[in-house]
Amino acid sequence: LPVAVLASGRGSNLQALIRARDAGLPIDLRLVASDRAEAPALRHAEAAGIATLALDPAGYATRRDYDLELFRRVAESGAELLVLAGFMRILDADAVNPWRGRMINVHPSLLPKYRGLHTHRRALEAGDAEHGASVHFVSPELDGGPVIAQARIDVRPDDTETTLAERLLPLEHRLLPAAVALIASGRLHLGERGIVFDDVPL
Ligand code: GRF
Repeated sequence: LPVAVLASGRGSNLQALIRARDAGLPIDLRLVASDRAEAPALRHAEAAGIATLALDPAGYATRRDYDLELFRRVAESGAELLVLAGFMRILDADAVNPWRGRMINVHPSLLPKYRGLHTHRRALEAGDAEHGASVHFVSPELDGGPVIAQARIDVRPDDTETTLAERLLPLEHRLLPAAVALIASGRLHLGERGIVFDDVPL
C-alpha cells in the first residue's frame, strides 16, 4: 500500500512505521511531509531513504490554500493512505473531504475524550482512572472521525504528564502500525456508516 506521512515534530510514530515496514508490513512509504523544515521527522525519513517535503505555511495566504497544495503533493506521491503522525495543524475541510477513509491520525487520548492539545494534563485534572491513545479515520472535525483502535493504560496516583506520555508512547508505536496493517490487508475500511471489518459494518 503506498503511504504518505505528515509529521510536525519528533517523528517517533513515523519511526515505528519505518520499523514495521522493515519487519514486513506491506507499505511503501512514498513521502514524509512536514510544515516545519527543522522537524526531526524529516531527518528520520531522509535517513531511511524516503522522499521528504518541507512546506512552509508562511508562503500561503489561507489555511485552505496551504492544505490544498500539501494534499496535492501527497496525491502526486501516489499515496493511497495518508497517516497523520504528530501533524500539529488543523486541516481545512476541503482538503480533508477527498481523503475520507484514506487518512488516519494517532491521538494521545481515549477519544472522544480530550480532542486537541494537552491530553495527558486534562486526563490528570479530570482524575481519570485510565488514559490511552486512539487511531482514527480523519474527519473535518479536529480529532473527530471513527475510531479504529485504542490502547489503554491505568493512571497511577503519582503520575505526571511526563510519566503518562512515557508509558503511552510505546503503545502508540504498536497501535499505529497495527491499524495501518489492518487497512493495508483490506480487512478494515471506512464504510458509509462507519468502520467495516471483514465486510461487517461495526
Ligand atoms: C504523539 O503523541 C501523537 O499521538 C500526537 O503527537 C505525538 C507525536 O509524536 N498526535 P511523534 O512526533 O510521533 O514522536
